[in-house]
Amino acid sequence: MSFTVAIDGPAAAGKGTISKAVAAHFGFAHLDTGLLYRAVGAKVIAGAAPIAAAQALETTDLENDSLRTPQVAQAASEVAVIPQVRAALIAFQRSFAGRDGGAVLDGRDIGTVICPDAHVKLFVTASAACRAERRFQELVGKGMDMTLDTVLADVKERDARDRNRKTAPLVPADDSIVIDTSDLSAAEAIAAAIKVVDAARS
Ligand code: CDP
Repeated sequence: MSFTVAIDGPAAAGKGTISKAVAAHFGFAHLDTGLLYRAVGAKVIAGAAPIAAAQALETTDLENDSLRTPQVAQAASEVAVIPQVRAALIAFQRSFAGRDGGAVLDGRDIGTVICPDAHVKLFVTASAACRAERRFQELVGKGMDMTLDTVLADVKERDARDRNRKTAPLVPADDSIVIDTSDLSAAEAIAAAIKVVDAARS
C-alpha cells in the first residue's frame, strides 16, 4: 500500500534532515527531488541543453557529491523555471511517490503539483538568516570556502526565483501543516514531523 509524505519549503529549511529522519523512522523510501533539478543544472553547467538534459536524466546522475555546491544549486533553480524541464521530471517523482511501503518526497511543489493527494503535507520553513547560517555551517563542514553573506544571498535569490516562477511556484499547499524550524533543534523539528505523520496514520 502506498503512503505519501510531501515535504516542501524554501532553500536550506531543514527539509532534507527531516525527510531522511521521517523515512528512517517509518521505514519509508526517500526522494530528495532537489537532486533531480541539481543534476539537470550540473549537466547544463557542463554544456548540455536544459530540456534535453532533463529528458535524458538517469538515476545514476543523482549519485554525485558535486551536486551539493552553491553553483549547482543556482543552476538548478534556473532550469527549474523551465516548464518542459519540470514536466520531464513528473513521471519519475509520481511513480516514486506511489511505491508500496510508503515514500517521503521533499522539494518545492510536492504537495501542490506532484502529489496533491499526499497523505501528509508539511511545509518546512525558517527565517532566511537561520537557513543561511545552517547551510553555511554545512558547506564549511564539507571544506567549501565561502562567506555567510554569499550563502545568504544565494538562498534569497533562489527563494525569490522559486516563489515567483509561473510553473509550480514555491507556495504552501492549502492543506499543509507548517513547521517553522527557526527556533527548533534538528531533533525537535524531526519529532514535530513524526508526530504529524503518526497522527495521519492512525
Ligand atoms: O537543498 P536546498 O533546499 O538548498 O535546494 P534543493 O532542494 O536541492 O533544490 C535546488 C533547487 O531546485 C531549488 O532552488 C529549486 O529551484 C529547485 N527545485 C524545484 O524547483 N522543485 C523541486 N521539487 C525541488 C527543487
